[in-house]
Amino acid sequence: MSDLDTLRASALSSIEAAATTADIEQLRVQLLGKKGAVTELLKGLGKLSAEERPAAGAAINQLKEAIGDALNRQKEALSAAEAASRSKASAIDVTLPGRAVARGAMHPVSRVLRRIESFFTSVGYEVVEGPEIEDDYHNFEALNIPAHHPARAMHDTFYFSDSLLLRTHTSPVQVRTMETREPPIRVICPGKTYRVDPPDPSHLPMFHQVEGLFIDEQCSFADLKGTIIEFLRVFFERDDLKVRFRPSYFPFTEPSAEVDVQCVHCLGEGHCRVCSSTGWLEVMGSGMVHPRVLEMSGIDSEKYTGFAFGMGPERLAMLRYGVTDMRQFIENDLRFLEQFQ
Ligand code: DAH
Repeated sequence: MSDLDTLRASALSSIEAAATTADIEQLRVQLLGKKGAVTELLKGLGKLSAEERPAAGAAINQLKEAIGDALNRQKEALSAAEAASRSKASAIDVTLPGRAVARGAMHPVSRVLRRIESFFTSVGYEVVEGPEIEDDYHNFEALNIPAHHPARAMHDTFYFSDSLLLRTHTSPVQVRTMETREPPIRVICPGKTYRVDPPDPSHLPMFHQVEGLFIDEQCSFADLKGTIIEFLRVFFERDDLKVRFRPSYFPFTEPSAEVDVQCVHCLGEGHCRVCSSTGWLEVMGSGMVHPRVLEMSGIDSEKYTGFAFGMGPERLAMLRYGVTDMRQFIENDLRFLEQFQ
């Protein structure tokens, strides 16, 4: 039976040497399959004599069992190792450095709004809001801009109907405030405003304004000047910033003034494209609230006086951050926005 011993030795050593469970299955076929080596031996039993057959048969069966056991044992060992290496491969490496989370940044116009709000709230103003869809009365009529008034032509208004529109300025919030509050009143009204203006370097159809309204007994133009000059100096962080009040006209204020600051780019030196070499930059409109405007909203103009002002955060952001094209504020180009982190 030395054939059997040889087969046993070579089978057991191949099983021992198998590296994967797939190798084991291949060996099982080669050794015990239909055409396998052990099967062939069993087929050969027929050639033996009746005396030899029982012992030979028993020996072959014993070999078959030994090979089967060895295959099973090795398969178990290998599949455990394979499972371990699979789970190791898919495991999370907790020692890897983390992925950085990109930090967002506040939009430059929001930053300017915050700066304006923080100054005015620190000197006792309250922030109030009004609707962006306004009626004709609050947007025009109650601000002393009657129908057919030439000032209406300056506002290219988006209308929903004869009497409903997208507000063209934040001044209607002054009216809504006066209608619902008793003086003293100190409010600023930030928000979105709309005009039929195609976008260009200095216009957007949707932009922001911040309105201011102060009403009290004995409020004078000196209060208006002091408040606005102080605000502009804080906003532009220049204690010696020159500010000038230029006579102007607004239907809802009398007298009215346009407010200019010394050019923040050339500081008044001239030869400058930011201020067109004038040395000055217009930053807001202002004036003493027209007595008729006070009266229309139920405030006694004999007892109370007030001042108002209106400014554009986009324009202030352009001046403060050196932005030359207003359209950049709405293009959402991250290369632009990331600079304001
Ligand atoms: N509402 C004006 C505009 O949109 C800005 C303005 C000017 C507001 C003078 C005021 C003011 O309160 O007093 O052009």
